[in-house]
Amino acid sequence: MWDERFAGDTFLFGTKPAMGLVRHKDKLIQNGSCLAVADGEGRNSVYLAELGHDVLAMDSSQVGIDKAKKLAEAHQVSVSYELADIYGYDWQKAQFDNVVAIFIQFAPPSKWHEIFEGMKQALRPGGVLILHGYTPKQVEYGTGGPSNVAHLYTTEMLAEAFGDMDILVNEAYEAVLDEGPGHSGQSALVDFVAVKR
Ligand SMILES: C[S@@+](CC[C@H](N)C(=O)[O-])C[C@H]1O[C@@H](n2cnc3c(N)ncnc32)[C@H](O)[C@@H]1O
Repeated sequence: MWDERFAGDTFLFGTKPAMGLVRHKDKLIQNGSCLAVADGEGRNSVYLAELGHDVLAMDSSQVGIDKAKKLAEAHQVSVSYELADIYGYDWQKAQFDNVVAIFIQFAPPSKWHEIFEGMKQALRPGGVLILHGYTPKQVEYGTGGPSNVAHLYTTEMLAEAFGDMDILVNEAYEAVLDEGPGHSGQSALVDFVAVKR
């Protein structure tokens, strides 16, 4: 499905980084190792590499990864890529200074525990997680994201799921996105930043 959505030359979510990443980039461990989770066509991994991070971008879409490689080339940055399914993913242990997961709301609530625990596992102690996505209000706008409201995040859910981390940011807000045809218009967003103890 994602290979089809990413077919063609247009970048579905644009080539600029997501707002939630730009807003909180300074909270990341600078020049650190960074796992970009389900990074698709590479806009966020390229940005992270431009900031000086050593980035591994994983995604299950080969078409997305091929486009991400071209984007990295065009920006003259180096990013490592891994074609992988997030379900059953080998998260490694305490490997990364930063984990960045932007719009990974393809995953249903039944998979959140596995994914969230995996992301925590991948971080070294003191490492930083940035998670950015839509809140349930987004279904009223229909300007991007899954139509199934159950997939969307509330600040309450995030506070509970990541209660074993030191939470720096857990903010729901609204903004107008202009991130390619996939994310365009008034949007109900959530930014979450936390540090592994
Ligand atoms: C909404 S897009 C977001 C892409 C990117 N994070 C961004 O913000 O531009 C969701 C991404 O999740 C990837 N994806 C979907 N199911 C996946 C899975 N089971 N394992 C890994 N990646 C998956 C898709 O290929 C797609 O790149």
